[in-house]
Amino acid sequence: MKPVNIGICGLGTVGSGVYNILQRNAKQINSRANAAICVTHVGSRRDNPACDIGETRVSRDIFEVAKDPTIDIVVELIGGTSVAFDLVMMSIKHGKHVVTANKALIAENGAEIFAAAEQQGVIVAFEAAVAGGIPIIKALREGLAGNQINWLAGIINGTSNFILTEMASKGRAFPDVLAEAQAKGYAEADPTFDIEGIDAAHKLAILASVAFSIPLNIESIFVQGITQLEQLDIGYARELGYAIKHLGIARQSGEGVELRVHPTLVPAASLIAGVNDVLNAVMVDADALGSSLYYGRGAGSEPTASSVLADIIDISRVLENPPATWVPALGCPLEVLTAQKMIPVADIETCYYLRFSMLDTPGALSNATKIMADAGISIEAIIQKEQPAGIDYVNVILVTNRLPERCLNAAVSEIEDLSTVQGSVTTLRLEHLDQ
Ligand SMILES: NC(=O)c1ccc[n+]([C@@H]2O[C@H](COP(=O)([O-])OP(=O)(O)OC[C@H]3O[C@@H](n4cnc5c(N)ncnc54)[C@H](OP(=O)(O)O)[C@@H]3O)[C@@H](O)[C@H]2O)c1
Repeated sequence: MKPVNIGICGLGTVGSGVYNILQRNAKQINSRANAAICVTHVGSRRDNPACDIGETRVSRDIFEVAKDPTIDIVVELIGGTSVAFDLVMMSIKHGKHVVTANKALIAENGAEIFAAAEQQGVIVAFEAAVAGGIPIIKALREGLAGNQINWLAGIINGTSNFILTEMASKGRAFPDVLAEAQAKGYAEADPTFDIEGIDAAHKLAILASVAFSIPLNIESIFVQGITQLEQLDIGYARELGYAIKHLGIARQSGEGVELRVHPTLVPAASLIAGVNDVLNAVMVDADALGSSLYYGRGAGSEPTASSVLADIIDISRVLENPPATWVPALGCPLEVLTAQKMIPVADIETCYYLRFSMLDTPGALSNATKIMADAGISIEAIIQKEQPAGIDYVNVILVTNRLPERCLNAAVSEIEDLSTVQGSVTTLRLEHLDQ
Protein backbone atom coordinates (compact mmCIF):
# COMPACT_ATOMS: atom_id res chain seq x y z
CA MET A 1 0.00 0.00 0.00
CA LYS A 2 1.24 3.47 -0.79
CA PRO A 3 1.89 5.56 2.34
CA VAL A 4 -0.14 8.77 2.81
CA ASN A 5 1.28 11.08 5.45
CA ILE A 6 -1.11 13.27 7.38
CA GLY A 7 -0.26 16.42 9.33
CA ILE A 8 -2.92 17.47 11.83
CA CYS A 9 -2.93 21.11 12.98
CA GLY A 10 -4.94 21.57 16.19
CA LEU A 11 -5.44 18.69 18.59
CA GLY A 12 -8.58 20.01 20.25
CA THR A 13 -12.06 18.47 20.18
CA VAL A 14 -12.07 17.47 16.50
CA GLY A 15 -8.31 16.94 16.06
CA SER A 16 -8.11 14.42 18.89
CA GLY A 17 -11.23 12.69 17.51
CA VAL A 18 -9.51 12.26 14.13
CA TYR A 19 -6.44 10.83 15.80
CA ASN A 20 -8.45 8.40 17.92
CA ILE A 21 -10.60 7.08 15.05
CA LEU A 22 -7.53 6.67 12.84
CA GLN A 23 -5.94 4.50 15.54
CA ARG A 24 -9.07 2.50 16.26
CA ASN A 25 -10.22 1.89 12.67
CA ALA A 26 -6.81 1.83 10.95
CA LYS A 27 -7.43 -1.49 9.17
CA GLN A 28 -10.78 -0.51 7.60
CA ILE A 29 -9.62 3.01 6.78
CA ASN A 30 -6.46 1.80 5.05
CA SER A 31 -8.26 -0.84 3.04
CA ARG A 32 -10.94 1.64 1.92
CA ALA A 33 -8.32 4.22 0.97
CA ASN A 34 -6.06 1.56 -0.53
CA ALA A 35 -3.27 3.40 1.26
CA ALA A 36 -1.38 3.28 4.55
CA ILE A 37 -2.68 6.44 6.19
CA CYS A 38 -0.48 7.65 9.01
CA VAL A 39 -0.33 10.83 11.08
CA THR A 40 3.35 11.69 10.96
CA HIS A 41 3.35 15.32 12.13
CA VAL A 42 1.14 17.23 14.53
CA GLY A 43 0.97 20.99 15.01
CA SER A 44 -0.25 21.61 18.53
CA ARG A 45 0.37 23.85 21.49
CA ARG A 46 -1.49 21.47 23.81
CA ASP A 47 0.58 19.29 26.14
CA ASN A 48 -2.29 17.02 27.12
CA PRO A 49 -4.52 16.29 24.10
CA ALA A 50 -7.38 13.80 24.45
CA CYS A 51 -5.49 11.26 22.35
CA ASP A 52 -2.27 9.31 22.66
CA ILE A 53 0.04 10.55 19.93
CA GLY A 54 2.96 8.35 21.04
CA GLU A 55 6.16 9.31 19.27
CA THR A 56 4.49 11.34 16.51
CA ARG A 57 6.50 14.43 15.64
CA VAL A 58 5.00 17.56 17.27
CA SER A 59 5.62 21.16 16.27
CA ARG A 60 4.43 24.08 18.37
CA ASP A 61 4.50 26.15 15.20
CA ILE A 62 1.72 24.78 12.98
CA PHE A 63 3.35 26.29 9.89
CA GLU A 64 6.11 23.69 10.26
CA VAL A 65 3.49 21.09 9.30
CA ALA A 66 2.57 23.02 6.15
CA LYS A 67 6.25 23.21 5.17
CA ASP A 68 7.09 19.56 5.97
CA PRO A 69 8.06 18.00 2.62
CA THR A 70 6.97 14.52 3.75
CA ILE A 71 3.33 15.51 4.41
CA ASP A 72 0.68 14.75 1.77
CA ILE A 73 -2.45 16.09 3.50
CA VAL A 74 -2.66 18.96 6.02
CA VAL A 75 -5.72 18.76 8.28
CA GLU A 76 -6.63 22.23 9.56
CA LEU A 77 -8.53 21.98 12.84
CA ILE A 78 -7.55 25.15 14.68
CA GLY A 79 -10.62 27.24 13.76
CA GLY A 80 -10.91 30.99 13.12
CA THR A 81 -10.21 32.78 9.88
CA SER A 82 -6.86 34.50 10.34
CA VAL A 83 -4.14 31.96 11.26
CA ALA A 84 -6.23 29.18 9.69
CA PHE A 85 -6.34 31.10 6.39
CA ASP A 86 -2.57 31.61 6.40
CA LEU A 87 -2.04 27.94 7.27
CA VAL A 88 -4.30 26.68 4.48
CA MET A 89 -2.79 29.03 1.90
CA MET A 90 0.73 28.05 2.92
CA SER A 91 -0.18 24.36 2.76
CA ILE A 92 -1.57 24.82 -0.75
CA LYS A 93 1.54 26.75 -1.78
CA HIS A 94 3.65 23.82 -0.61
CA GLY A 95 1.57 21.43 -2.71
CA LYS A 96 -0.37 19.83 0.15
CA HIS A 97 -3.95 18.69 -0.07
CA VAL A 98 -6.04 20.22 2.71
CA VAL A 99 -8.92 18.94 4.83
CA THR A 100 -10.74 21.40 7.08
CA ALA A 101 -13.82 21.51 9.32
CA ASN A 102 -13.79 25.31 9.31
CA LYS A 103 -17.09 26.71 7.97
CA ALA A 104 -16.21 30.35 8.65
CA LEU A 105 -13.00 29.95 6.67
CA ILE A 106 -14.69 28.27 3.69
CA ALA A 107 -17.71 30.61 3.66
CA GLU A 108 -15.63 33.78 3.90
CA ASN A 109 -12.39 32.88 2.12
CA GLY A 110 -13.41 29.86 0.04
CA ALA A 111 -13.20 31.64 -3.33
CA GLU A 112 -9.54 32.55 -2.79
CA ILE A 113 -8.68 29.18 -1.26
CA PHE A 114 -10.27 27.10 -4.05
CA ALA A 115 -8.70 29.25 -6.74
CA ALA A 116 -5.25 28.76 -5.18
CA ALA A 117 -5.89 25.02 -4.83
CA GLU A 118 -6.95 24.71 -8.47
CA GLN A 119 -3.83 26.55 -9.58
CA GLN A 120 -1.57 24.31 -7.47
CA GLY A 121 -3.41 21.11 -8.44
CA VAL A 122 -4.40 20.15 -4.90
CA ILE A 123 -7.70 19.30 -3.21
CA VAL A 124 -9.37 21.30 -0.41
CA ALA A 125 -12.07 19.19 1.25
CA PHE A 126 -14.55 20.44 3.86
CA GLU A 127 -17.28 17.85 4.53
CA ALA A 128 -17.06 18.45 8.31
CA ALA A 129 -17.66 22.18 7.90
CA VAL A 130 -21.42 21.72 7.44
CA ALA A 131 -23.59 19.67 9.80
CA GLY A 132 -20.58 17.95 11.45
CA GLY A 133 -20.89 14.21 10.94
CA ILE A 134 -23.76 14.26 8.41
CA PRO A 135 -22.29 13.72 4.93
CA ILE A 136 -24.45 16.44 3.38
CA ILE A 137 -21.79 17.91 1.08
CA LYS A 138 -21.20 14.49 -0.47
CA ALA A 139 -24.96 13.90 -0.71
CA LEU A 140 -25.55 17.17 -2.58
CA ARG A 141 -22.41 17.12 -4.69
CA GLU A 142 -22.34 13.45 -5.63
CA GLY A 143 -25.51 11.63 -4.54
CA LEU A 144 -27.82 14.27 -6.02
CA ALA A 145 -25.56 15.33 -8.90
CA GLY A 146 -28.19 14.38 -11.47
CA ASN A 147 -30.89 16.52 -9.87
CA GLN A 148 -31.85 20.14 -9.97
CA ILE A 149 -32.10 21.26 -6.35
CA ASN A 150 -35.23 23.33 -5.76
CA TRP A 151 -34.65 24.19 -2.11
CA LEU A 152 -33.03 23.02 1.07
CA ALA A 153 -33.83 23.85 4.67
CA GLY A 154 -31.65 22.86 7.58
CA ILE A 155 -31.26 22.89 11.31
CA ILE A 156 -27.53 23.51 11.06
CA ASN A 157 -26.59 24.95 14.44
CA GLY A 158 -26.84 22.45 17.28
CA THR A 159 -26.58 25.07 20.04
CA SER A 160 -29.61 27.01 18.80
CA ASN A 161 -31.55 23.78 18.37
CA PHE A 162 -30.70 22.70 21.91
CA ILE A 163 -31.85 26.05 23.30
CA LEU A 164 -35.13 26.00 21.34
CA THR A 165 -35.79 22.37 22.31
CA GLU A 166 -35.34 23.13 26.01
CA MET A 167 -37.46 26.30 25.80
CA ALA A 168 -40.27 24.39 24.05
CA SER A 169 -40.22 21.14 26.00
CA LYS A 170 -39.54 22.47 29.49
CA GLY A 171 -40.67 26.09 29.30
CA ARG A 172 -37.20 27.26 30.30
CA ALA A 173 -35.98 30.82 29.79
CA PHE A 174 -33.42 31.61 27.07
CA PRO A 175 -30.55 32.84 29.35
CA ASP A 176 -30.90 29.79 31.59
CA VAL A 177 -30.63 27.31 28.69
CA LEU A 178 -27.81 29.27 27.08
CA ALA A 179 -25.82 29.02 30.35
CA GLU A 180 -26.36 25.24 30.34
CA ALA A 181 -25.31 24.96 26.67
CA GLN A 182 -22.10 26.81 27.56
CA ALA A 183 -21.48 24.62 30.62
CA LYS A 184 -21.95 21.48 28.50
CA GLY A 185 -19.50 22.77 25.89
CA TYR A 186 -22.17 23.03 23.14
CA ALA A 187 -21.88 26.80 22.83
CA GLU A 188 -18.71 28.80 22.41
CA ALA A 189 -17.54 30.96 25.34
CA ASP A 190 -18.70 33.82 23.11
CA PRO A 191 -21.91 32.26 21.77
CA THR A 192 -22.76 35.12 19.38
CA PHE A 193 -22.02 33.06 16.25
CA ASP A 194 -24.44 30.35 17.42
CA ILE A 195 -27.38 32.37 18.77
CA GLU A 196 -27.24 35.25 16.27
CA GLY A 197 -27.33 32.86 13.30
CA ILE A 198 -23.85 33.67 11.95
CA ASP A 199 -22.59 30.08 12.19
CA ALA A 200 -25.73 28.86 10.39
CA ALA A 201 -25.21 31.52 7.70
CA HIS A 202 -21.66 30.29 7.09
CA LYS A 203 -22.99 26.77 6.57
CA LEU A 204 -25.90 27.92 4.41
CA ALA A 205 -23.52 29.81 2.10
CA ILE A 206 -21.57 26.57 1.55
CA LEU A 207 -24.71 24.45 1.05
CA ALA A 208 -26.20 26.91 -1.43
CA SER A 209 -22.99 27.07 -3.44
CA VAL A 210 -22.87 23.28 -3.80
CA ALA A 211 -26.63 22.91 -4.35
CA PHE A 212 -27.10 25.67 -6.95
CA SER A 213 -23.58 25.90 -8.47
CA ILE A 214 -23.31 29.53 -7.41
CA PRO A 215 -20.26 31.31 -5.96
CA LEU A 216 -19.98 31.40 -2.15
CA ASN A 217 -21.99 34.43 -1.08
CA ILE A 218 -22.22 35.10 2.64
CA GLU A 219 -23.12 38.79 2.18
CA SER A 220 -26.49 38.07 0.52
CA ILE A 221 -27.85 35.97 3.39
CA PHE A 222 -30.61 37.45 5.54
CA VAL A 223 -29.68 36.49 9.10
CA GLN A 224 -31.80 36.52 12.23
CA GLY A 225 -30.85 34.64 15.41
CA ILE A 226 -32.96 33.28 18.24
CA THR A 227 -32.27 35.94 20.88
CA GLN A 228 -35.51 37.84 20.28
CA LEU A 229 -37.71 34.74 20.45
CA GLU A 230 -40.20 34.77 23.31
CA GLN A 231 -41.49 31.80 25.28
CA LEU A 232 -44.99 33.17 24.66
CA ASP A 233 -44.69 32.62 20.90
CA ILE A 234 -43.34 29.10 21.29
CA GLY A 235 -46.50 28.31 23.30
CA TYR A 236 -48.93 29.95 20.86
CA ALA A 237 -47.19 28.26 17.92
CA ARG A 238 -47.68 24.89 19.63
CA GLU A 239 -51.41 25.64 20.15
CA LEU A 240 -51.67 26.32 16.42
CA GLY A 241 -49.92 23.03 15.57
CA TYR A 242 -46.40 24.32 14.86
CA ALA A 243 -42.92 24.04 16.32
CA ILE A 244 -40.38 26.85 16.06
CA LYS A 245 -37.01 25.83 14.61
CA HIS A 246 -34.01 27.92 13.63
CA LEU A 247 -33.63 27.17 9.92
CA GLY A 248 -31.23 28.02 7.16
CA ILE A 249 -33.24 28.11 3.94
CA ALA A 250 -31.94 28.27 0.37
CA ARG A 251 -34.41 28.30 -2.50
CA GLN A 252 -33.93 28.59 -6.24
CA SER A 253 -36.71 29.81 -8.52
CA GLY A 254 -37.12 31.52 -11.89
CA GLU A 255 -36.60 34.86 -10.12
CA GLY A 256 -33.25 33.93 -8.55
CA VAL A 257 -31.97 32.55 -5.27
CA GLU A 258 -33.11 33.37 -1.74
CA LEU A 259 -30.86 32.68 1.22
CA ARG A 260 -32.11 33.23 4.75
CA VAL A 261 -31.51 32.13 8.33
CA HIS A 262 -34.23 32.80 10.91
CA PRO A 263 -36.58 31.22 13.46
CA THR A 264 -39.35 29.50 11.51
CA LEU A 265 -42.68 27.93 12.39
CA VAL A 266 -42.92 24.44 10.86
CA PRO A 267 -45.84 21.99 11.18
CA ALA A 268 -45.42 20.03 14.43
CA ALA A 269 -46.01 16.80 12.53
CA SER A 270 -43.23 17.45 9.99
CA LEU A 271 -40.01 15.42 10.14
CA ILE A 272 -37.88 18.49 10.72
CA ALA A 273 -39.99 19.53 13.74
CA GLY A 274 -38.91 16.26 15.39
CA VAL A 275 -35.21 17.12 15.16
CA ASN A 276 -34.37 18.06 18.73
CA ASP A 277 -31.54 18.78 21.16
CA VAL A 278 -28.13 19.28 19.52
CA LEU A 279 -29.02 17.20 16.47
CA ASN A 280 -28.88 18.63 12.96
CA ALA A 281 -30.91 17.87 9.85
CA VAL A 282 -31.00 19.14 6.28
CA MET A 283 -34.07 18.62 4.11
CA VAL A 284 -33.44 18.78 0.38
CA ASP A 285 -36.06 19.06 -2.34
CA ALA A 286 -34.71 17.91 -5.70
CA ASP A 287 -36.55 17.55 -9.00
CA ALA A 288 -35.87 13.86 -9.62
CA LEU A 289 -35.61 12.47 -6.08
CA GLY A 290 -38.21 14.69 -4.44
CA SER A 291 -37.69 15.37 -0.73
CA SER A 292 -35.00 13.72 1.35
CA LEU A 293 -33.80 14.33 4.90
CA TYR A 294 -30.25 14.00 6.22
CA TYR A 295 -30.22 13.76 10.00
CA GLY A 296 -27.62 13.16 12.68
CA ARG A 297 -24.95 14.66 14.90
CA GLY A 298 -23.86 18.07 13.72
CA ALA A 299 -21.01 18.45 16.18
CA GLY A 300 -18.86 16.62 18.70
CA SER A 301 -15.41 15.11 18.60
CA GLU A 302 -15.92 11.82 16.74
CA PRO A 303 -19.01 12.74 14.69
CA THR A 304 -17.13 15.68 13.19
CA ALA A 305 -13.94 13.62 12.88
CA SER A 306 -15.98 11.03 10.94
CA SER A 307 -16.43 13.58 8.14
CA VAL A 308 -12.78 14.67 8.31
CA LEU A 309 -11.75 11.02 7.84
CA ALA A 310 -14.09 10.59 4.88
CA ASP A 311 -12.28 13.49 3.20
CA ILE A 312 -8.85 12.04 4.06
CA ILE A 313 -9.88 8.69 2.54
CA ASP A 314 -11.34 10.36 -0.57
CA ILE A 315 -8.12 12.27 -1.18
CA SER A 316 -5.94 9.23 -0.52
CA ARG A 317 -7.89 7.26 -3.13
CA VAL A 318 -7.24 9.76 -5.91
CA LEU A 319 -3.82 11.15 -4.97
CA GLU A 320 -2.17 9.73 -8.04
CA ASN A 321 -4.97 10.54 -10.49
CA PRO A 322 -4.92 13.68 -12.63
CA PRO A 323 -6.86 16.65 -11.12
CA ALA A 324 -9.40 16.58 -13.96
CA THR A 325 -10.69 13.27 -12.57
CA TRP A 326 -11.27 14.62 -9.02
CA VAL A 327 -14.74 15.59 -7.77
CA PRO A 328 -14.66 19.43 -7.80
CA ALA A 329 -14.82 21.01 -4.32
CA LEU A 330 -18.10 22.83 -4.97
CA GLY A 331 -19.54 20.23 -7.35
CA CYS A 332 -18.43 21.82 -10.63
CA PRO A 333 -15.29 23.59 -11.85
CA LEU A 334 -14.88 27.10 -10.38
CA GLU A 335 -15.25 28.76 -13.80
CA VAL A 336 -18.64 27.07 -14.23
CA LEU A 337 -20.09 28.52 -11.00
CA THR A 338 -22.61 31.16 -12.07
CA ALA A 339 -23.82 34.08 -9.96
CA GLN A 340 -27.60 34.36 -9.85
CA LYS A 341 -29.84 37.23 -8.82
CA MET A 342 -30.20 37.22 -5.03
CA ILE A 343 -33.77 37.85 -3.97
CA PRO A 344 -33.98 40.47 -1.19
CA VAL A 345 -35.86 39.38 1.92
CA ALA A 346 -38.63 41.92 1.22
CA ASP A 347 -39.43 39.97 -1.97
CA ILE A 348 -39.49 36.47 -0.51
CA GLU A 349 -42.82 34.72 -0.27
CA THR A 350 -43.81 32.70 2.76
CA CYS A 351 -46.59 32.42 5.35
CA TYR A 352 -46.45 34.43 8.57
CA TYR A 353 -47.33 34.20 12.25
CA LEU A 354 -48.33 37.55 13.78
CA ARG A 355 -48.95 38.44 17.43
CA PHE A 356 -50.12 41.76 18.75
CA SER A 357 -51.71 43.19 21.86
CA MET A 358 -55.09 44.81 21.21
CA LEU A 359 -57.63 46.73 23.30
CA ASP A 360 -60.51 44.38 24.11
CA THR A 361 -63.23 46.60 22.64
CA PRO A 362 -65.92 46.02 19.97
CA GLY A 363 -64.70 46.56 16.41
CA ALA A 364 -60.98 46.50 17.27
CA LEU A 365 -60.31 43.06 15.77
CA SER A 366 -62.36 43.76 12.65
CA ASN A 367 -60.31 46.94 12.03
CA ALA A 368 -57.16 44.83 12.05
CA THR A 369 -58.58 42.06 9.88
CA LYS A 370 -59.93 44.65 7.40
CA ILE A 371 -56.39 45.97 6.91
CA MET A 372 -55.31 42.42 6.10
CA ALA A 373 -58.24 41.84 3.75
CA ASP A 374 -57.64 45.16 1.93
CA ALA A 375 -54.02 44.06 1.39
CA GLY A 376 -55.23 40.76 -0.09
CA ILE A 377 -53.95 38.76 2.88
CA SER A 378 -55.94 35.68 3.92
CA ILE A 379 -56.05 34.68 7.55
CA GLU A 380 -55.56 30.91 7.83
CA ALA A 381 -55.89 30.74 11.63
CA ILE A 382 -56.66 33.15 14.42
CA ILE A 383 -56.73 32.96 18.21
CA GLN A 384 -57.55 35.65 20.72
CA LYS A 385 -56.26 35.19 24.24
CA GLU A 386 -58.05 36.71 27.21
CA GLN A 387 -55.76 38.39 29.70
CA PRO A 388 -56.20 38.12 33.47
CA ALA A 389 -58.95 40.29 35.02
CA GLY A 390 -58.02 43.97 35.20
CA ILE A 391 -56.00 43.99 31.95
CA ASP A 392 -57.89 45.58 29.06
CA TYR A 393 -55.71 44.15 26.30
CA VAL A 394 -55.88 40.74 24.63
CA ASN A 395 -53.21 38.93 22.64
CA VAL A 396 -54.27 38.27 19.04
CA ILE A 397 -52.40 35.62 17.06
CA LEU A 398 -52.84 35.23 13.30
CA VAL A 399 -51.44 32.91 10.67
CA THR A 400 -51.49 34.24 7.10
CA ASN A 401 -51.45 32.69 3.67
CA ARG A 402 -48.30 32.78 1.54
CA LEU A 403 -47.45 36.32 0.42
CA PRO A 404 -44.50 38.61 -0.33
CA GLU A 405 -42.85 40.02 2.79
CA ARG A 406 -43.13 43.55 1.38
CA CYS A 407 -47.00 43.27 1.40
CA LEU A 408 -47.01 41.89 4.92
CA ASN A 409 -44.76 44.68 6.21
CA ALA A 410 -47.10 47.36 4.82
CA ALA A 411 -50.12 45.76 6.52
CA VAL A 412 -48.21 45.31 9.79
CA SER A 413 -47.32 49.03 9.83
CA GLU A 414 -50.99 49.93 9.42
CA ILE A 415 -52.00 47.57 12.23
CA GLU A 416 -49.35 49.08 14.52
CA ASP A 417 -50.80 52.53 13.77
CA LEU A 418 -54.27 51.54 15.04
CA SER A 419 -55.11 53.32 18.29
CA THR A 420 -56.42 50.02 19.69
CA VAL A 421 -53.12 48.20 19.15
CA GLN A 422 -50.43 48.46 21.80
CA GLY A 423 -46.74 48.19 20.92
CA SER A 424 -45.32 46.45 17.89
CA VAL A 425 -46.47 43.34 16.03
CA THR A 426 -44.32 40.24 16.53
CA THR A 427 -43.75 38.60 13.13
CA LEU A 428 -42.32 35.15 12.50
CA ARG A 429 -42.01 33.34 9.19
CA LEU A 430 -43.85 30.04 8.69
CA GLU A 431 -42.89 27.35 6.19
CA HIS A 432 -44.73 24.18 5.23
CA LEU A 433 -41.61 22.91 3.45
CA ASP A 434 -43.69 21.16 0.83
CA GLN A 435 -43.71 23.73 -2.00
N1 LIG B 1 -16.25 20.92 17.91
C1 LIG B 1 -17.15 20.57 17.02
O1 LIG B 1 -18.08 19.84 17.32
C2 LIG B 1 -17.03 21.04 15.61
C3 LIG B 1 -18.02 20.66 14.67
C4 LIG B 1 -17.90 21.05 13.34
C5 LIG B 1 -16.83 21.86 12.96
N2 LIG B 1 -15.90 22.24 13.90
C6 LIG B 1 -14.80 23.08 13.46
O2 LIG B 1 -13.59 22.37 13.67
C7 LIG B 1 -12.54 23.28 13.96
C8 LIG B 1 -11.88 22.87 15.28
O3 LIG B 1 -12.86 22.93 16.30
P1 LIG B 1 -12.60 22.29 17.74
O4 LIG B 1 -13.94 22.23 18.39
O5 LIG B 1 -11.79 21.07 17.64
O6 LIG B 1 -11.77 23.46 18.43
P2 LIG B 1 -10.87 23.35 19.74
O7 LIG B 1 -11.33 22.24 20.61
O8 LIG B 1 -10.81 24.72 20.32
O9 LIG B 1 -9.46 22.95 19.16
C9 LIG B 1 -8.68 23.83 18.42
C10 LIG B 1 -7.26 23.49 18.75
O10 LIG B 1 -6.43 24.26 17.90
C11 LIG B 1 -5.37 24.77 18.67
N3 LIG B 1 -4.89 26.02 18.08
C12 LIG B 1 -5.58 27.13 17.80
N4 LIG B 1 -4.78 28.04 17.25
C13 LIG B 1 -3.56 27.48 17.21
C14 LIG B 1 -2.29 27.93 16.74
N5 LIG B 1 -2.12 29.13 16.21
N6 LIG B 1 -1.24 27.09 16.85
C15 LIG B 1 -1.39 25.86 17.38
N7 LIG B 1 -2.57 25.37 17.83
C16 LIG B 1 -3.62 26.18 17.73
C17 LIG B 1 -5.97 25.01 20.04
O11 LIG B 1 -4.94 25.05 20.97
P3 LIG B 1 -5.17 25.49 22.50
O12 LIG B 1 -5.73 24.28 23.15
O13 LIG B 1 -3.82 25.85 22.97
O14 LIG B 1 -6.11 26.66 22.45
C18 LIG B 1 -6.88 23.81 20.18
O15 LIG B 1 -6.18 22.71 20.74
C19 LIG B 1 -13.17 24.66 13.97
O16 LIG B 1 -13.02 25.27 12.72
C20 LIG B 1 -14.65 24.37 14.23
O17 LIG B 1 -15.52 25.36 13.72
C21 LIG B 1 -15.98 21.85 15.20
